[in-house]
Amino acid sequence: MGEYENRKMSEVQTVTIEAALRQGSRRLRSVGLGSADLEASLLVGMVTGLDRLAILTRTATELTPEQWASLDAFLSRREKHEPFQYLSGQQQFMSLEFEVGPGVLVPRPETEHLVEAVLDRIAEAPRPTGGEWLVADVGTGSGAIAVTLASYINDVRVVATDLSPDALDFARRNAQRHGVFDRLEFRLGDGLEPLADRAGEFDILVSNPPYIPTQEIAGLDPEVRDFEPRLALDGGDDGLAILSLLARQGLSMVKPGGWLAVEVMAGQAQSVERLLSGWQEIEILKDLLGHQRVLVARRPQG
Ligand SMILES: C[S@@+](CC[C@H](N)C(=O)[O-])C[C@H]1O[C@@H](n2cnc3c(N)ncnc32)[C@H](O)[C@@H]1O
Repeated sequence: MGEYENRKMSEVQTVTIEAALRQGSRRLRSVGLGSADLEASLLVGMVTGLDRLAILTRTATELTPEQWASLDAFLSRREKHEPFQYLSGQQQFMSLEFEVGPGVLVPRPETEHLVEAVLDRIAEAPRPTGGEWLVADVGTGSGAIAVTLASYINDVRVVATDLSPDALDFARRNAQRHGVFDRLEFRLGDGLEPLADRAGEFDILVSNPPYIPTQEIAGLDPEVRDFEPRLALDGGDDGLAILSLLARQGLSMVKPGGWLAVEVMAGQAQSVERLLSGWQEIEILKDLLGHQRVLVARRPQG
């Protein structure tokens, strides 16, 4: 055991990368984190500014007291199961880096299937009159869906809404970061209300809404339950509060022939399909684990 192992970080003036890695891994492992070694190394990288190769090869380099104190603070947050992405401030989504942090949901890989479903529809359909696709992203959170669509397709404009002002701030910064701010419009508000003045104009209505039934929230992993915004998770008694709103009122939001694309929880697809009365060409898409996670439906042409 190294000389620092039994001392509080605040009592130590200097420490090598090797000792920092050892103590970091030990602390994270002791709270049951499976990827403790990797996370300790990433955190050492964050406080030193060194890349992973440098961390592996320069193990005798000493951390400054400030770096050591920052590492201690990060480890304390992670020991409480705060999501790693809230510490790093980053999450990759569809190969793009998104800023995330307390107050916004960390975008998930499952949602990439939703974005791919929308990209497929756009690729296959004739260009809309006017030349641009108009998309609404309800509950945009970090802007993962809206910013990705605008980044991948030049002829897309997105109206991105959220009930959370904090989430919209993240989304705005992510749009700026990826150079698509000019093609996104951000609106604060509940459900489809912020889109009412453009009802019937959208080519696609996309949403990854909160869909977890209220009574299931208590059983979620602490990382999610205790840190991610409740507003981003809680879909009401049956989890379908916003999904049913989108199914019922979404028809009047999109153009004839326009699309609705939503993410659902595993096990919810059939219930949501039943809500889609008036929609046609309903497709249910699976994620990599084989769970039905995305529904796409089309408003009849005329
Ligand atoms: C599951 S998160 C999805 C965030 C982001 N679209 C993504 O895929 O990572 C749901 C989002 O919907 C927002 N939200 C919850 N209730 C809402 C409502 N009634 N109207 C609009 N947005 C809402 C939350 O604030 C949250 O940002």
